[in-house]
Amino acid sequence: MILRAENLTKFFGGLAALKEVSFGIEEGEILGLIGPNGAGKTTLFNVVSGFFRPDRGRVVFADEPITQLKAPQRCRIGLVRTFQVVKPFGNLTVLQNVMVGSFLRTADPGFARERALEAMELVGLSGRRDTAAKSLTISDRKRLEVARALATRPRLLLLDEVMAGLNPTELAQMLDLFKRIRSHGVTLLVIEHIMAAIMTISERLLVLHHGEKIAEGTPKDVAADKRVVDAYLGEEYLLA
Ligand SMILES: Nc1ncnc2c1ncn2[C@@H]1O[C@H](COP(=O)(O)OP(=O)(O)OP(=O)(O)O)[C@@H](O)[C@H]1O
Ligand SMILES: [Mg+2]
Repeated sequence: MILRAENLTKFFGGLAALKEVSFGIEEGEILGLIGPNGAGKTTLFNVVSGFFRPDRGRVVFADEPITQLKAPQRCRIGLVRTFQVVKPFGNLTVLQNVMVGSFLRTADPGFARERALEAMELVGLSGRRDTAAKSLTISDRKRLEVARALATRPRLLLLDEVMAGLNPTELAQMLDLFKRIRSHGVTLLVIEHIMAAIMTISERLLVLHHGEKIAEGTPKDVAADKRVVDAYLGEEYLLA
């Protein structure tokens, strides 16, 4: 198992954004994370990737307890996430932005550049190498965010709604990209609201609701789970 989360609990004042959430991710799998707005999905990413300390519980990555490690340290051992709200350095080029990711793992500029170019090739941004990030389309910004994360050479990559705002063609390209990333040996944990997409791409799904894990299993089983239908999917999904 590449990641084990045990009893993760996180409070914001009196609000429990995560309550005793436990799950595991097998190396090489694509695990989807779903749930209504405010369910705690991004908070779970923050706790797993080291941006927030949990109030209770622990995180184990590749058999090492990492709960005490900060985000850059987790990144250096191969655990990295993207941000739901994508904020590239607007005046820097695509290549320079992706190199920011590379520099988290290497201090050598030549090596950093090489890794950035590889990541850009993988996401399909090679043609935009010298474009300022601020003039990219939403779709290319999302790809830039994925490339920046890939340039850190992750073993486990956490993607927070990188499909939001894409048109059907761009969505299909993104799903294709997920498969290519996985074929490079990277394990994926993916937050997504677009059900058709997350159902297609994930081997398993984890469902959060009010900070609690309410279901975990294959997309087929989860989609038929009454608690998931009530909390998130709605009856019309069952009939569709
Ligand atoms: N930094 C914070 N400070 C205070 N409350 C927060 C903070 N981050 C999240 N919350 C609250 O924690 C709960 C879970 O939020 P979170 O962002 O994890 O949800 P989410 O499942 O990612 O939702 P969405 O699908 O809208 O992105 C919400 O009630 C939110 O308002
Ligand atoms: Mg979120």
